[in-house]
Amino acid sequence: MSHILDQFRLVGRTALVTGGSQGLGLKIATALAEAGASIVIVSRRLDACQIAAEAVHNETGQPTFALAADVTDPESVERLFGDVTERVGGIDILLNSAGLNKRGPVATLTAEDWDSVVDANLKGPFLMARAFGPSMADRKWGRILNFGSILSHIGIAGRTPYASSKAGLLGLTRVLALEWALSGVTVNAICPGPFATEMNRPLLNDPEQYKNFVSKIPMGRWGELDEICGAALFLCSNASSFVTGTTLTVDGGWTAQ
Ligand SMILES: NC(=O)c1ccc[n+]([C@@H]2O[C@H](COP(=O)([O-])OP(=O)(O)OC[C@H]3O[C@@H](n4cnc5c(N)ncnc54)[C@H](OP(=O)(O)O)[C@@H]3O)[C@@H](O)[C@H]2O)c1
Repeated sequence: MSHILDQFRLVGRTALVTGGSQGLGLKIATALAEAGASIVIVSRRLDACQIAAEAVHNETGQPTFALAADVTDPESVERLFGDVTERVGGIDILLNSAGLNKRGPVATLTAEDWDSVVDANLKGPFLMARAFGPSMADRKWGRILNFGSILSHIGIAGRTPYASSKAGLLGLTRVLALEWALSGVTVNAICPGPFATEMNRPLLNDPEQYKNFVSKIPMGRWGELDEICGAALFLCSNASSFVTGTTLTVDGGWTAQ
């Protein structure tokens, strides 16, 4: 029986992080590298991915790679699969952190707003899992971690496409978990409450909305970026070997109310 802390080590594993060029994806990429993984950073902007990959390498000493792809585009995802296979041979961990939010009352949202959010948050994880999951299953070990939200569980006015996509993502997570249950590949979702990233710039820049958000969090504050890492590492490691098709919420108690 291995030491409990060994179950969290990722030595010899390769993790691909979509949306790894910034925010929660970059924070978790660094944590997974600290645990011993090689890291592939992916987003649409190659220059941002290269800067992020270099930062992760400088901080952890682990091998890192940067590749550009649009997770909403099937051809781009297939090209990415080819590039990843050529550069690193394959991945063990897929973290679907790429995401988008467009806020506003439903009457003001366009069909394009809806499509862009649902494509990034729901179609993207589907295309990525479809491309990378089967080779993990062939190798009999894999971790797929989808990024839900508290809006996977509850509603907030003005968030139709985001809440719909993040609730739908839990359905995708459960079905993929069942499809790969016998193959050593687990599929789970992490559901963050509010963290101060680019995505939340409109809330951070509006003192009224910021105060309103804090008032809903039993812990009385936003999450520090570091506070997402333990939950993510758990779900990406051997420590969660019997956990699949479920969600782990990291929200300071918001959805407990
Ligand atoms: N921050 C929070 O409080 C919070 C709360 C709950 C859930 N989440 C979820 O956590 C995840 C990360 O959020 P974050 O706050 O770190 O967001 P963020 O700072 O806005 O970063 C989003 C990332 O996604 C990439 N991206 C967007 N569309 C893409 C596409 N079509 N293809 C490839 N990459 C794409 C962006 O890079 P490019 O622009 O270069 O493509 C960027 O790296 C998201 O799924 C978000 O919904 C966040």
